Amino acid sequence: MKKFIDLRSDTVTKPTSAMRKAMVEAEVGDDVFGEDPTVNILQEKVANLLGKEASLFVPSGTMANQLAIKSHTQPGDEVIIESSSHPYNFEGGAGAALSGIQFCCLQGVRGILEPSQIEEAIRPADHHFPVTRLVCLENTHNRGGGSIFPLEKMADIYRLSKSRGLLVHLDGARLWNAAVATQIKPSEYAQWADSVSVCLSKGLGAPIGSLVAGSKLFVDRVHRFRKMFGGGMRQVGIIAAAGIYALDHHLERLREDHQNAKRLAVGLKEFKGVSVDPRHVETNIVIIDVAGSAMKGSQLVEAMKKGGVLIHAIGNTQIRLVTHLDVTAEDIEKTLKVIGEILAKK
Ligand SMILES: Cc1ncc(COP(=O)(O)O)c(C=O)c1O
Repeated sequence: MKKFIDLRSDTVTKPTSAMRKAMVEAEVGDDVFGEDPTVNILQEKVANLLGKEASLFVPSGTMANQLAIKSHTQPGDEVIIESSSHPYNFEGGAGAALSGIQFCCLQGVRGILEPSQIEEAIRPADHHFPVTRLVCLENTHNRGGGSIFPLEKMADIYRLSKSRGLLVHLDGARLWNAAVATQIKPSEYAQWADSVSVCLSKGLGAPIGSLVAGSKLFVDRVHRFRKMFGGGMRQVGIIAAAGIYALDHHLERLREDHQNAKRLAVGLKEFKGVSVDPRHVETNIVIIDVAGSAMKGSQLVEAMKKGGVLIHAIGNTQIRLVTHLDVTAEDIEKTLKVIGEILAKK
């Protein structure tokens, strides 16, 4: 089988041999009874990393976010969120379907919202309006191009939210990337949110798994809804073991992904018709716009595929390239060579 360089997403990684070994050797039990020792170790580890009282293992980032939304809200409530965020755009309309909430979408700069925007969006206490209940942030921001939500801004939004009686949820699917890039601990970010979801199956390279963290009371509520959503799993330590392995071995190496993404952006900028600002590449995601070339995004995707590189069109002219565990510095140079066979240099 032809080996592609796969830059479509950081979710495409395959478990390493060492990770598979950890999975095979995992001690397991029935986690619906709370008896899987490996799951319990993972939950405690993630709660500690995030400085929260508890955390709960769930199958996906989508379920983690939606359980948090469900646990924090009542039907009819309004949730303030950035307009290109994951929970609003890419979770199948679950907020409306499963929690009966409506989103109030605010446009950020590369996904980052200002506290003043949020303040303006909070509804007055008047029975005509929905009740503003929750603010959702995303760090790093996927469609923002892996942008890092600045700690100070998170702190200001949290303080504002508390002063107005709102809850804050952080979609931290890639919080690990933010932490490694800034050297700010995940718990320092997480202190500015009532609940946090994190993924093990993105940059960290585990095949499955996310966690939702928060107070014991909140996680108890999440537990009930996880059952209701069908997310209770049995001898799931076999998967939790991959997550523990990933946290122990793949966290610090995210730095390499960030270096590769930066190098990719610097190289791509040299091609005619490609617009990208490498200064905006803060972590492992590069978003380019090919509006200035004669090609549509989908045409460049096809041409790159013929050259052995998979990339992902996210709009007519926008393309996303994501670095991860299975992409080397050499792969980045190969990718630039392949694009060089399609587009001329500036
Ligand atoms: C920011 C963000 N949140 C949540 C998710 C959902 O994760 P999952 O695919 O595990 O449902 C993703 C997936 O890419 C994401 O990028």
